[in-house]
Amino acid sequence: MSTPESSPTIRLSDYRPPDHLIARVDLDIRLERKASEVFARLGVKPHPQGVAGAPLVLHRDHVMPARILLDGRALRADEIVVEARQLILHKVPDRPFTLDLLNVVDAEANTTLNGLYLSNDVFCTQCEAEGFRRITPFIDRPDVLARYRTRIEARKSETRYLLANGNPIASGDLAEGRHFALWDDPWPKPSYLFALVAGNLARVSDTFLTRSGREVRLDIFVEDGKEERCAFAMESLKRAMAWDEQAFGREYDLDVFMLVAVSDFNMGAMENKGLNIFNDKYVLADPRRATDSDFIDIEAIIGHEYFHNWTGNRITCRDWFQLCVKEGLTVFRDQEFTAAMRSPAVKRIMDVRRLRSAQFVEDQGPLAHPVRPNSYKEINNFYTATVYEKGAEIIRMLRTLIGEEHFSTGMTLYFERHDGQAVTVEDFITCFAETSGRDLAPFMRWYAQAGTPVVSVDIAYDAVAQTATLAFKQTLSPAAGDNALPQTIPVHIGLLDPQGRDMELHTADGAMAGNVIILDEATCKVTFHRIEQRPVPSLLRGFSAPVRLDVSLSDDDLVFLLTHDSDSFNRWQAGQTLATRQMAAAASGRQIKAAGVKAYLHALAQAIEASGTDDAFLALLLTLPSESDIAREIGTNIDPEAIHIARRDLRRRIGLSLREQLITRCTALPADDVQSMGGTATARRALRNALLDLLCTQADEHVLDMAERQFRDGQTMTEVYGALIALSQHDCRQRSEALAAFYDRHKGDALVIDKWLAVQAMVGETQTLRQVEELTRHPAFRLTNPNRVRALLSTFAFSNPSQFNRQDGAGYRFIADQVMALDRINPQIAARLATAFRAWAILEPGRRHLARAELERIASGGELSPDLAEMVQRTLQI
Ligand code: TRP
Ligand code: ZN
Repeated sequence: MSTPESSPTIRLSDYRPPDHLIARVDLDIRLERKASEVFARLGVKPHPQGVAGAPLVLHRDHVMPARILLDGRALRADEIVVEARQLILHKVPDRPFTLDLLNVVDAEANTTLNGLYLSNDVFCTQCEAEGFRRITPFIDRPDVLARYRTRIEARKSETRYLLANGNPIASGDLAEGRHFALWDDPWPKPSYLFALVAGNLARVSDTFLTRSGREVRLDIFVEDGKEERCAFAMESLKRAMAWDEQAFGREYDLDVFMLVAVSDFNMGAMENKGLNIFNDKYVLADPRRATDSDFIDIEAIIGHEYFHNWTGNRITCRDWFQLCVKEGLTVFRDQEFTAAMRSPAVKRIMDVRRLRSAQFVEDQGPLAHPVRPNSYKEINNFYTATVYEKGAEIIRMLRTLIGEEHFSTGMTLYFERHDGQAVTVEDFITCFAETSGRDLAPFMRWYAQAGTPVVSVDIAYDAVAQTATLAFKQTLSPAAGDNALPQTIPVHIGLLDPQGRDMELHTADGAMAGNVIILDEATCKVTFHRIEQRPVPSLLRGFSAPVRLDVSLSDDDLVFLLTHDSDSFNRWQAGQTLATRQMAAAASGRQIKAAGVKAYLHALAQAIEASGTDDAFLALLLTLPSESDIAREIGTNIDPEAIHIARRDLRRRIGLSLREQLITRCTALPADDVQSMGGTATARRALRNALLDLLCTQADEHVLDMAERQFRDGQTMTEVYGALIALSQHDCRQRSEALAAFYDRHKGDALVIDKWLAVQAMVGETQTLRQVEELTRHPAFRLTNPNRVRALLSTFAFSNPSQFNRQDGAGYRFIADQVMALDRINPQIAARLATAFRAWAILEPGRRHLARAELERIASGGELSPDLAEMVQRTLQI
């Protein structure tokens, strides 16, 4: 911990290569809970581009070697300068040399889950971004690539398995009940990809044959007794390996691929070379204990970490400013994977929903930053939706801009040219500039300019000339900076004729016009010819760019798009826009147009009735924009309570006026059993839950009975939990009974109890805060476990806007208290929870002051971690 002022600002413009390289690392680790010995032998040499004779500067964090030897000679104390976070050796040879360090690490006392720590008695490590320096002093930056050999020794009774990166070389028993294992990783890697796991785990094994005929052993390690719950993870892994070969030509490159599930983990998962470590939430699943959306997440995250083997590990980033070069690209790859395994249309909508709910908010508030940030104090605070999700959108746009063909050859060039290197965004983009022949310098602005651009479009139809003219204008966000220049924005469009069919697009000379308009100046005008009837425009199809679209379509046009658009994303979007329009009006006290509501309800009814609509897509159509979506649309002077009421009222209207259709559709859906896990069953359950959720807005006994029955008889967690959520809308007997029954059925199963915590934290009622406070004292809750914190506290702070933003400020006070308590345990998680305050400036004045006061209370709360200090300062913009 340190005071806020003590963290220096790291700047991209200050980058220079290190003065030394470490090409070899030999680790000999003797594990003990409180005092593990870490012998590190480092093969150091001067960097060819470094300053000759420069001192060797090693990063360190909490660890201080008891002995240091240079080429076998013990260094005297006066030869070592020890600083708070560094170790400096002033006189080192100007040739390759060996440095031996003997460190002692206390894994048991480490509650940060960064470095070497214990999770349920399992030793494990987390080194990204700067955790390796907690294990041994090191040049802990991603442009230092070394070959690692790791020997682990431990008590056999406590560590059935001893795992590290690479291939297993040797293992065996030692005296006094001890054993060892030796691992060799032939691929040079940065220190953040180092990993070690040791514990009494259970193993599930399989094999994968690569397309060039190499057999790879696949091992999944879980806590004892959880083996049965790995089947889906194993299948997902094999699908991911096959897909990467087929879609990107990438093969796996070691004899074994290991995946470990641990219960205490800061994020989703980590791509350590050959030894991915996962939050157990993203590995363990069976239909009775995990929902379909858990299954979908597992497949996506297993894919994500596996895909890092090429985009991240074989080719890594030069420095942490280039984080998007591995994360944005790997998110793009995992999105494509899920789209290929499931429904591309549904996947695109889910991804855009996530982008808007996480990234747009970030981009529109004080935490806005470019996809490649210019500076940071604590890099952990920059593993953000902007770097990940917007980073992925940039790559999607790049593909739209240069076309599939050039994109694909550009990827191949990237893999060939940069294999084994630590690269920059420029290195990456240059590959595509070369294969496409396009000047991508303007496109680079997507990496440099923060904020979400607004694209406004005016449509003019000339019936006499039979032309339709679209006038585009882009307005950059103030967050883009004073000297910001127009972005390159691909806008995929269509024009619908009165029958709802796509018109042909012609230029003035009668040739076919493309349906992607590249807006790369502040404004641009495009005219289409031979347009015989007034068209309805379908703009930004498939959400072809991460922008806000501003176009004034009438309610009737939106209903038309919702019914007819051939682009499923825009069908969905039309419904969302209509609904948002009404709810935003209601929440701002404006008159809502009865005709608009009626037309919307009618269109929904038609969609429910229509045959041939995919069940999952219909479920999305029936899900209203969230309260935060509505807040973002309103933009200023937000009253979260009014938004909550507006949304609740519209849902009730739907539930009331479509009651019969909803019931009919719901009862017509065939029953599921635990065997039915394919795409159609998943879609059916999503629809069933969406229907039930709308029905339950009517608190009558008939619908509550339906929900209660689904809760009781549901064979899958998706149905059981869906019913519980539907019931949780009302303070009724059915709700309290279901909550009690759910707890009773699943107590002792932490991942399922997380759902029980979350559903209670989501309830939009005034007693929720008290309930959540009580739950922090429940035996199932622990502030030391990030999954519990996220289930209870993050759900309350991020997914329950009306209660977090209570008018009396008690929600803010509670979360601020929790953030400060958490900061002493786990700064990374504390800083993340603190981002719940990021939208404080757009609140109405009363709440704005209360939220701000709580942020200031945190800021002045004494010793803050660098993580939390930076986050609070940025949020307050001080
Ligand atoms: N690189 C990981 C991923 O995106 C995420 C990650 C970064 C992480 N830092 C971490 C995971 C710290 C756990 C803890 O796949
Ligand atoms: Zn990643």
